[in-house]
Amino acid sequence: MSEAIGYERVGDIAILAANNPPVNALGHDVRNGLVDGIARAEADGAKAVLIYGEGKTYFAGADIREFGKPPTQPFLPDVCTRIEASPLIVVSALHGTALGGGLEIALGSHFRIAVPTARVGLPEVLIGVMPGAGGTQRLPRLVGVDVAVDVITSGRQIGAKEALAMGVLDRVVEGTPREIGLAYAQELLDSGAERRAISEMPAPEAVDFDALYNMVLQKGRGQIAPALAVRGVQACCELPFEEGMKRERELFMELMASDQRQGMIHAFFSERAVGKLPELKGVAPRNLNAVGVIGGGTMGAGIATAALLSGLSVVMLEMTAEAAEAARGRIESNLGGALKRGKLSQAQFEDLTTKALTLATDYAALGDVDLVIEAVFEDMGVKKQVFTQLDAVCKPGAILASNTSYLDINEIAACTKRPADVIGLHFFSPAHVMKLLEVVVADKTAADVVATGFALGNRLKKTSVRAGVCDGFIGNRILSTYRTCADHMILDGATPYQIDKALTDFGFAMGPYAVADLAGLDIGWAVRKRKRAEGVDPRARDFTYADKLCEDGHFGQKTGTGYYVYQAGKRAGVPNPDVMPLIEADRAAQGLTPRDFSDDEIVRRYMAAMVNEAAKVVGEGIARRPLDVDVTLLYGYGFPRYRGGPLKWADMVGLPGLLSDMQDWAKEDGYFWQPAPLLEELVAEGRTFDDLNKETA
Ligand code: COA
Repeated sequence: MSEAIGYERVGDIAILAANNPPVNALGHDVRNGLVDGIARAEADGAKAVLIYGEGKTYFAGADIREFGKPPTQPFLPDVCTRIEASPLIVVSALHGTALGGGLEIALGSHFRIAVPTARVGLPEVLIGVMPGAGGTQRLPRLVGVDVAVDVITSGRQIGAKEALAMGVLDRVVEGTPREIGLAYAQELLDSGAERRAISEMPAPEAVDFDALYNMVLQKGRGQIAPALAVRGVQACCELPFEEGMKRERELFMELMASDQRQGMIHAFFSERAVGKLPELKGVAPRNLNAVGVIGGGTMGAGIATAALLSGLSVVMLEMTAEAAEAARGRIESNLGGALKRGKLSQAQFEDLTTKALTLATDYAALGDVDLVIEAVFEDMGVKKQVFTQLDAVCKPGAILASNTSYLDINEIAACTKRPADVIGLHFFSPAHVMKLLEVVVADKTAADVVATGFALGNRLKKTSVRAGVCDGFIGNRILSTYRTCADHMILDGATPYQIDKALTDFGFAMGPYAVADLAGLDIGWAVRKRKRAEGVDPRARDFTYADKLCEDGHFGQKTGTGYYVYQAGKRAGVPNPDVMPLIEADRAAQGLTPRDFSDDEIVRRYMAAMVNEAAKVVGEGIARRPLDVDVTLLYGYGFPRYRGGPLKWADMVGLPGLLSDMQDWAKEDGYFWQPAPLLEELVAEGRTFDDLNKETA
């Protein structure tokens, strides 16, 4: 018998206890152990079987590491069927997270009991597949089409209370899964309960599945898994159980073979790998109880909100008492959102805004904090003044962090006597909402300061990526290049609207010009002015229409007009009629004849620019691994998760083709299309970005 499933008899009950840390994933040994365990219980004269998980959870799902490899017997659907077919009463006792294949094992059992903290769900669509072990056949029989489609297409986790109300669980009881499972199994035996196989229950009535399929497909912005899962539920309603199982398996295998599955599983493992850095192994972070935030604008207030919500106390420093009060207003309004959504009670809200938050206008108030994050105006002179003052007032060992999005942290650190304590913590706005945190490590930053940056990220529930110092770090540096590529396409004949549409069709949450309107067009304007002042290479193409747009007062959403015109109450805008004449004038002034761009070419160029700059960022060591870039773009820039990230996407479409396209385009603009040395190297050696991820794993 496999060691992954323990066997024990307690009276008439055989106990199958899973022991496959950390999450009892249903790998080959576990599946084998379950099949053997059921057979042994039957041969052993037991009357009931209890299945539960040792450690922190019931089965959290199929073993994702086996995906993409040839499947080995026994297959998971057969394990569920074997459990269900047993003449003994089978009870599953759930705790932790009974997800995916885990919930499917529970649905193959005849009765389900759980502890109140247990969570269940079918999150397969979140890794690019769909339930493939009876989930789409059994769940609708138990809870009906509407609930099943919601659970399966959203992939969301459901608390025990809700699952009980839905009918997924039969009982919710305090205790350990072993205790409550044994008591329930005994009670079922004592009351003479009969086994209850879901596959033998009638299927629900069919609904208009074509309409449902189309709706789900549209909602998924190009993701196919949720829509195919609807077809699985359809099979439940329209076919006998065994045939429905076959259809589910076909759909599942189709998704298993898809690029989207590869992309989403890459995202799953990458987001878990970003925080694992060899240099931080065994390095303890410094203590964090109180943090200071300098500057209470949108960014500073967002950072303060996130810190307060994580239980840290916050000293908010502003220049004047009025500015400090305005910062309080922003923080209260952010926290008010959490209050409204029921994430905070009124008492907690009061505590956070009165006890945990202190307003100050004097640097001396920062004397006791463990870490300070400045979010003041992006100007090196201003930052240096702030850090000189911090150096004077902060206690020894306090960490001094800058939220700059592009300035040189080495230069900032050099104006203090403690450069080892200086780090960049680059949040994304609104900072209490956006998941990404770039932890920017300067030349002299101490390892335990880096570890504290990651610990803070964890505490604030962010996904943190290590970045080196350069203009824009990982994310904004790459953004600046692909935005430039889009601007070039506009000069050559594309429109901002066509570019936005091509990229949202590709799966981006928003196109670059809609994003620019949201962020404020003055930001890009300021960057262009700064770069021109620093001196632009004469070979770089330049353009003026975007500056003119700003000169005319179109700053994007905040002024109601930018590339789009925003009508009150509507989130999406309509094209601003002032934009195309400015573009046409710019083209005419530069003697350019506009040409047509297909959507495919737009995506190809935009993505190539992104991949090329990303390869430079990895080659220069600004990002440690390709996966760090992928996670940055996924979490901070709306990159479609089902494509895995730009470098995973590049691997899947093929690096040689991308390089040869760039070499072609370089004939027209050799300055912009300079291939990254790392890309050339990988192509020459026939390797991929993911090979690099594996080498550094
Ligand atoms: N297969 C293989 N490994 C898995 C896994 C799975 N289904 N689920 C989690 N793991 C691994 C993680 O990669 C991680 O490994 P690491 O420590 O080497 O990085 C470890 O288990 C712990 O997972 P983590 O996510 O860090 O722990 P958590 O407590 O925050 O969350 C889960 C636990 C189960 C909620 C979460 O891992 C999850 O959502 N897993 C996927 C569940 C799923 O999609 N199941 C459906 C598959 S059919």
